[in-house]
Amino acid sequence: MFDEAIDEVLNYLEAQKERGVKYVQVSPETLKSLLAEPETERQKPGSARSSSRAMPRKSFDFAPSFDVSSLSARAPLPSGRIQKPGNINLYSGMDIEIKLGAPLTREEKLAKMEVLREEVLKCGKCTHLASSRRNVVFGTGDVDSPLLFIGEAPGADEDIEGEPFVGRAGQLLMKIIAAMGLSREKVFIANILKCRPDTPGQTSGNRPPTPQEMQICYPWLVKQIEIIQPRVIVALGATAVNALLAQTVPISRIRGKFQPFHGMQVMPTFHPSYLLRYANATVKRQVWEDMLQVMEFLGMEISEKQRGYFL
Ligand code: URA
Repeated sequence: MFDEAIDEVLNYLEAQKERGVKYVQVSPETLKSLLAEPETERQKPGSARSSSRAMPRKSFDFAPSFDVSSLSARAPLPSGRIQKPGNINLYSGMDIEIKLGAPLTREEKLAKMEVLREEVLKCGKCTHLASSRRNVVFGTGDVDSPLLFIGEAPGADEDIEGEPFVGRAGQLLMKIIAAMGLSREKVFIANILKCRPDTPGQTSGNRPPTPQEMQICYPWLVKQIEIIQPRVIVALGATAVNALLAQTVPISRIRGKFQPFHGMQVMPTFHPSYLLRYANATVKRQVWEDMLQVMEFLGMEISEKQRGYFL
């Protein structure tokens, strides 16, 4: 229980750090209770509690074509349920079934996605977001791609353009995708939330989506996934990872490890905003290794040059 509480705090702090938050306020009471380790845990020899959970510190320059249509057909994937670390879980409501069904043709996917887009563009489930948004950011790319990137939520730039990942973080993501030999048109890119989280009274800045907003919006993403039928989903940052896996685990612990996900694979990695703010060579390489794993899994050709980025 103690470890789970620590994980929850770490997870929250990492998500804040991804967003550029440098300091958080902690009341003396909270600090005291955090420092007061439960007797039972302290007395256990070899207790799993770790005092050295490395928090990655601190733009990212990805050097740069590969045709995704050359990717092999869906391979059998490892099955298994996602581990739930504990009973503090803000995302448990998002653990909903995703049914991939029989393979769809590109034409079928295009038609279904268009119908879905029409529906999502009219969505008013979160009245506060529907009234504050300029555009619904549905998602973009190849509906038939085996590779889906999922971010958190549109920011101000995306809200204006109606396209995901067009701001600074988006430009960095495009460099990463280009370094894989791909492009925005060859993968699909979407977010957990389709509307920009509102920031009443603020003229600038973004805020993370609330678990409630994500829970309301997530079924749209589930439908997108069911249409795209990707083999790999790259979950960008703590919010996307938590939402997809319906669990709270610090991103630094889970990144780089494929997670079975309803017959697909999720690759958790750092959000490009985090890289913009904090990436040193080690973190850049970590993200790149995550992408190399994705490329290997998809059977993509990897050049020596690509293997050596950030070494
Ligand atoms: N960050 C996200 O997570 N998604 C976007 O679309 C843009 C920035």
